Amino acid sequence: MTDPAPSEIRVRAVREEDLETCAETNGSAFSFEWDADDWTNVTRLVQPNRMLCAFQGEAMVGVAGALQFSLAVPGGELPTAGVTLVGVRPSHRRRGVLTAMMRHQLDDVRAWGEPLAILWASESNIYQRFGYGLATLRATIDVEPDRATFRAPSLPFGRIRLIPLDEALRILPDLHERARAGSPGTFRRSPTWWTERRLADSARHRRGGGPMFRAVLEVDGRAEGYALYRVHSSWGESGLPEGWLDVLEALGTTPLATREIWRFLFGVDLVARVRADRLRPDHPLLLTLAEPRRLRLRLLDGIWLRVVDVRAALGARAYADTGSLVFDLIDPFCPWNAGRWRLEAGPGGARLAPTADPPDLRLDASDLGAAYLGGVSFSQLVRAARVEELRPGATHRADALFHTAIAPWCPDDF
Ligand SMILES: CC(C)(COP(=O)(O)OP(=O)(O)OC[C@H]1O[C@@H](n2cnc3c(N)ncnc32)[C@H](O)[C@@H]1OP(=O)(O)O)[C@@H](O)C(=O)NCCC(=O)NCCS
Repeated sequence: MTDPAPSEIRVRAVREEDLETCAETNGSAFSFEWDADDWTNVTRLVQPNRMLCAFQGEAMVGVAGALQFSLAVPGGELPTAGVTLVGVRPSHRRRGVLTAMMRHQLDDVRAWGEPLAILWASESNIYQRFGYGLATLRATIDVEPDRATFRAPSLPFGRIRLIPLDEALRILPDLHERARAGSPGTFRRSPTWWTERRLADSARHRRGGGPMFRAVLEVDGRAEGYALYRVHSSWGESGLPEGWLDVLEALGTTPLATREIWRFLFGVDLVARVRADRLRPDHPLLLTLAEPRRLRLRLLDGIWLRVVDVRAALGARAYADTGSLVFDLIDPFCPWNAGRWRLEAGPGGARLAPTADPPDLRLDASDLGAAYLGGVSFSQLVRAARVEELRPGATHRADALFHTAIAPWCPDDF
């Protein structure tokens, strides 16, 4: 039997009766098996009509989903597809199944009126070919808590309380909204997101660690910060603790509240290390500690962003300066975006319109995806031999327009 040609791949929306096979197909791509409850929780977040399955012949060979987010972008929020659950059976890889699903999905996202798509990549070489650009970074730390002292002595303030799940569900959504303060790259979490994702604590989430603890900082009776963490306990032969505390999330509504939450985390007993992942890349701890090197801070790729509808996406974003810029956008995968555009950013808002004027810059879709939230500057892209400056000074002008005071960052895994 000869292998079917890529043209025989069919992609369609998932139906209720496909869900079990979808779980099995996705599991096979990641070489694991979905627990029935965990899969049910996933389908509460991704509606079947936002999930795609690919077939070759009668066999389901690939799955891809799209969550529905309201993503913070500079100056506002935009409906955004959160690409997730992407997997192709190992027996059918490298035959164009992913490419067929990406084609179908980006057409769907456009039809749904969502100008952006974002994702976390299992491997960082998969999605640039589909126009996704590296839009945020994430920081990881791994520090001995007894060396995590603050550079300036200060007295603790406020009161820390460990809270039960029902109280966390009551107070954390509002606290999270206040703490993220519209930071680009973050999104508003739905009640389902809180129960099924952020505060979920099944054996799969624990990964051999202890239960999730929920700590809240109260200042004058008002919640100003919180931490979610679990401890992976271990004792060495010498009788000393060798385990680590895993910070799942730690946020404050003010700089002092953030410092107090970290003071608490660094003070939890019987752990040798405090580790955190998915911290903002410009995390204040680097400037707060007496020994920043002790953080062993590392930067990794964060979310990848695709501008699905260039006119809607650039028109809805706020700009740090006024001015105009003509750019030539190369976008073969989403040809409706391709061509020459003039961006006019004024005090009343921004507008993007097609133009025949000579371009200032030439860039492709993944360059625009990287620059959109302000995390990567046009100068960086020019230095990387990606964006082409066609008019002297244009890169500087583009940097001034797209600049954001705070580095974009996404704390949520999806
Ligand atoms: C990653 C994955 C979805 C790719 O699916 P696929 O059907 O093999 O992809 P395609 O055949 O459409 O590949 C399209 C192109 O991307 C390349 N590509 C795809 N996945 C790649 C990877 N992991 N590393 C390098 N290149 C990759 C292919 O070589 C191909 O390049 P070409 O057009 O130059 O020939 C699939 O291998 C998989 O399910 N992997 C395990 C689970 C996973 O990582 N999922 C992604 C979660 S974010």
